[in-house]
Amino acid sequence: MSLLPLNRWSIPSIDVTYCVPSINRRVDIPVSKSIPDENKRPIRSYVIRSGRLTDAQRKAIESYWGKYVVEFNREALDLDTLFEKPQKLTVEIGFGMGDSLLEMAKQSPDQNFLGIEVHQPGVGKLLNGIVENKLTNIKLICHDAREILEIGLPDNCIDRLLLFFPDPWHKKRHNKRRLVQPEFIELLLRKLNTAAELHFATDWQAYAEHMMEVLEANPCLENTLGAQNYWPEPDRPVTKFEKRGQRLGHGVWDLRFQAKQ
Ligand SMILES: C[S@@+](CC[C@H](N)C(=O)[O-])C[C@H]1O[C@@H](n2cnc3c(N)ncnc32)[C@H](O)[C@@H]1O
Repeated sequence: MSLLPLNRWSIPSIDVTYCVPSINRRVDIPVSKSIPDENKRPIRSYVIRSGRLTDAQRKAIESYWGKYVVEFNREALDLDTLFEKPQKLTVEIGFGMGDSLLEMAKQSPDQNFLGIEVHQPGVGKLLNGIVENKLTNIKLICHDAREILEIGLPDNCIDRLLLFFPDPWHKKRHNKRRLVQPEFIELLLRKLNTAAELHFATDWQAYAEHMMEVLEANPCLENTLGAQNYWPEPDRPVTKFEKRGQRLGHGVWDLRFQAKQ
């Protein structure tokens, strides 16, 4: 497979055929050229940062990618064969360095976990955690979550959807890059099982209010804490990004909604 430069039109499509130049320790990503809808530039909720990998992350990617990272070829994934056992499925979008996802997968061996993240160092770090803890209930995808939802995941397959500290895109002109938008929630709803849970968290008050407005406006969702209420003591591990926010004195807002039956 040829290695194309990652440009603003390309969608990272990472598979086992990556290469790791030894000098700058970047992993070059083989990309499939995407065909943007009617030549419109797709709005992305992320920026691919220059992928500096530590030696440990690079080794993990070389050794364990094939076993734990699901290859996505713009086709529907077969969830029945993905995990060792059929169990309730939690999906985390944007797991960052993966600390909290690892913790949850360790704590709940009776559930399956699928983590979606575009940032390769985070994938490398989490791969090491998965192997060290011999986990069999977790798989990762290194790709744009929106496309995974649109094409990769079948309808009615998710029992819990986690979105912890998504990029707030706080400048007004960037707000459109936020993941949480009415259309995105509609897409999510198609993928949720009956009575599935949505758990979102942010440390950006304006984004929290935006999330609340978008979720409350959807008639297929119910705020489990009561209308307009946030979740004061959420049952999730502290995330790496949250710790950074705590050091800066940021507040935290958690939202917990349920798909109506
Ligand atoms: C601010 S970080 C938070 C990471 C982590 N949840 C935490 O709390 O430490 C947001 C993460 O979401 C990822 N992300 C943003 N949009 C994404 C998308 N469409 N698909 C997959 N990952 C995405 C980014 O790469 C980034 O790692």
